[in-house]
Amino acid sequence: MLTLRLGSRDQFAALRGFLASTGYTEEAVCRKLGVDGLHECSKRLSDCDGRLQSAAPSVLKVLVQLLIAGKSLPRTEVARAIPPAPLDAMKALGILSAHSPHSKHIVSAVALYPVQRLFFASERWNTTNSSAEAKDYVFSPVNSLTHEFLRLLPQDPCDLFLDLCSGTAIAALLAAKGYARHSWAVDIASRATRFGEFNRRLNAVENATVMQGDLYKPVKGMKFDRIVAHTPWVPSLKRRPIYADGGPDGERITRAIIKGLPRHLAPGGRFYCLAANLEREGEPYEERARRWLGARQSDFDIVYIEAEKKGPLQFAYRTTRATKGAWREMDQWVEHFRKLKIKNLVYGLLVIQSSDTKRNCFTVRRQKAENGGIAEAEWLRTWESAWANSFRREQVMASRLTASKGAELHVLHSRENDRLSPSKFTLTSAHPFAVEFVCPGWVAKLVERCDGTSTASEHFEAGQREGWIGAEVSAADFVRMLGELISRGLLEVGGFEPPRQKILKPQSA
Ligand SMILES: C[S@@+](CC[C@H](N)C(=O)[O-])C[C@H]1O[C@@H](n2cnc3c(N)ncnc32)[C@H](O)[C@@H]1O
Repeated sequence: MLTLRLGSRDQFAALRGFLASTGYTEEAVCRKLGVDGLHECSKRLSDCDGRLQSAAPSVLKVLVQLLIAGKSLPRTEVARAIPPAPLDAMKALGILSAHSPHSKHIVSAVALYPVQRLFFASERWNTTNSSAEAKDYVFSPVNSLTHEFLRLLPQDPCDLFLDLCSGTAIAALLAAKGYARHSWAVDIASRATRFGEFNRRLNAVENATVMQGDLYKPVKGMKFDRIVAHTPWVPSLKRRPIYADGGPDGERITRAIIKGLPRHLAPGGRFYCLAANLEREGEPYEERARRWLGARQSDFDIVYIEAEKKGPLQFAYRTTRATKGAWREMDQWVEHFRKLKIKNLVYGLLVIQSSDTKRNCFTVRRQKAENGGIAEAEWLRTWESAWANSFRREQVMASRLTASKGAELHVLHSRENDRLSPSKFTLTSAHPFAVEFVCPGWVAKLVERCDGTSTASEHFEAGQREGWIGAEVSAADFVRMLGELISRGLLEVGGFEPPRQKILKPQSA
């Protein structure tokens, strides 16, 4: 039973003020738990526990033990750490309660922790498997998937923001506090909506609205500048908890959201979705997503950044293991995917942009670089939009081109007429995307020569003059290829360099 109560403003203010005054910040909590990010402790809370036990007594320690680790603590210890007003507020709001009616111990019913500069209440993630399997269990945002989802949302200012499948309303509230004029959070589950509204009040976010309902129903007739969704995407053979259940093909919710975009995305608006999807023979996911946009599909651009790809068998094995299913279940999965003609399951970020000018739309897919994120995806979207508007073409022809620092050329030599001759040219790069681009010989030669001293026009003229660009390559072909090479991060043009590669922290032992 959910004990959270949407209490008075004063109660929320007392709790918020107290948490802020104690330095209950994400950085301080992570330091206390010995993790780099709160999402890390969702799996390693027992490791963190030892560290907590040995920490010196402090208010922060009590808060972390009670509100994150879910420990039951003696009333006297809690009363020493938390002054009467916030303690009463925590009880009135249904966060803290006595362990049992006559118990001398106090326990928290939910988890409550800082994320960025806000506080969030959610289900406990260190709960028993059976409660996590309950149909309306609210997806706790303290996990690597939500962490990745939040990391993949651009934070440039926007007007109206919609978070579909909002769970604890984390994306909507962070957007409202950070960069959106007003945000809406919509979730179908009443339990999730209660958490979302609780969190809105706890953080006094006045420019956000939390609503319960099926996808766009609560915001019927409205258009948004940005729509984001971290959808339930697990293909389901049987009924699963609502946070995971994506229907038999895993795409039920994502598909319905994309179908609704022509009605709800304002011109120039953007949609960001992190989910797993299916690829059928001969039909890449991004092409299927385009079809779902329906009659107005040519008004939209699509960028898909694939992060992971699994074969059906791999998915069947991992899911059967994770749900402790019987081997028979694996066979059922394999048969299920065979019927649906599934080739792969892909997991990644889908960005759909509603074009605000009349031009050809684009669909582009890349594979995520090892440490790539939203900066790379946004760079690609911006580049492709400018390229589709075609005003950059003359500019690019007049620019000095440089082969990207990470670009490599691999040449395969094959035996021909008793001699080994170059027969296949592959350009590769690890950043901004993981790229393997098989290209004609003249393209390999061009990239080899791009050292920043000559313009694209000069390269084209030299290529024709010296014969390494054949007569069959027209000026239009050449420009088109430049666009491809720049978009793949193999060539760089001044003023449009991709974001610099982030240096990964060495893994701790
Ligand atoms: C994977 S969770 C994501 C929660 C949150 N956005 C996050 O990242 O932590 C998916 C959420 O979708 C909600 N949901 C499922 N079907 C829905 C629907 N038809 N309309 C709105 N929300 C839905 C579930 O209740 C759940 O909270």
